[in-house]
Amino acid sequence: MDIVIANESHIKYASVISETISESAKVRGTGIAKRTPEYIIKRLVNGNAVIALDGERFAGFCYIEVWGHQKFVANSGLIVHPDYRNQGLAKKIKKAIFDLSRKKFPDAKIFGITTGLAVMKMNYELGYKPVTFSELTDDPDFWKGCQTCKNFDILTRTERKMCLCTGMLYDPGSSALDKRKMNSKTFLRLKSIKEQLLIKKKKA
Ligand SMILES: CC(C)(COP(=O)(O)OP(=O)(O)OC[C@H]1O[C@@H](n2cnc3c(N)ncnc32)[C@H](O)[C@@H]1OP(=O)(O)O)[C@@H](O)C(=O)NCCC(=O)NCCS
Repeated sequence: MDIVIANESHIKYASVISETISESAKVRGTGIAKRTPEYIIKRLVNGNAVIALDGERFAGFCYIEVWGHQKFVANSGLIVHPDYRNQGLAKKIKKAIFDLSRKKFPDAKIFGITTGLAVMKMNYELGYKPVTFSELTDDPDFWKGCQTCKNFDILTRTERKMCLCTGMLYDPGSSALDKRKMNSKTFLRLKSIKEQLLIKKKKA
């Protein structure tokens, strides 16, 4: 398996990446922003993405987005093809994109929003902390990305204060971060509480 910084030679993988993201969203039944092939191509060629390939076969992808005039970067769109899951590949991709983010944007805070327990775990182990949305970028273009998520009405209704996603932030200015393991039970409980509160309101 090769995990490399993406470039123009990887444009041919844009469609399979886009399809894998939307298929996974359907299977999970949770909200996820849509990524068209055109959108993916832009990320593949700008030197801010990582792609995992098994020979010529697409295995995984993740990209960096820059917000708020480089004060923040997000590691977004993490996807591992179903054929390559549960082998530790996402962890390696996450580490690669995290290292690339630290190298290219050493002063930026790195953040993400996710409903996925796997992503929360990996972020936590990299030194991210869960935070409220108010600590994330206020760049409206970042939040516009949520418009294609099926839970967007919740984000609008709460005036962007909360949604089903959890915000997580790595602050390079904060004290040294030790190797940690996340308590998954706490996060699952929090997620379930949020779903009960926010989705019930939606149906009311
Ligand atoms: C989430 C995803 C990227 C994980 O990829 P993967 O290569 O199977 O993950 P890894 O094997 O590297 O596992 C990393 C960690 O997450 C855990 N994990 C993996 N899938 C999980 C799941 N569905 N639920 C809970 N934990 C999970 C693993 O146990 C591992 O934790 P550990 O180190 O404590 O054992 C992959 O399932 C995927 O692409 N899903 C669809 C897209 C998606 O959900 N993206 C995230 C958007 S927010």
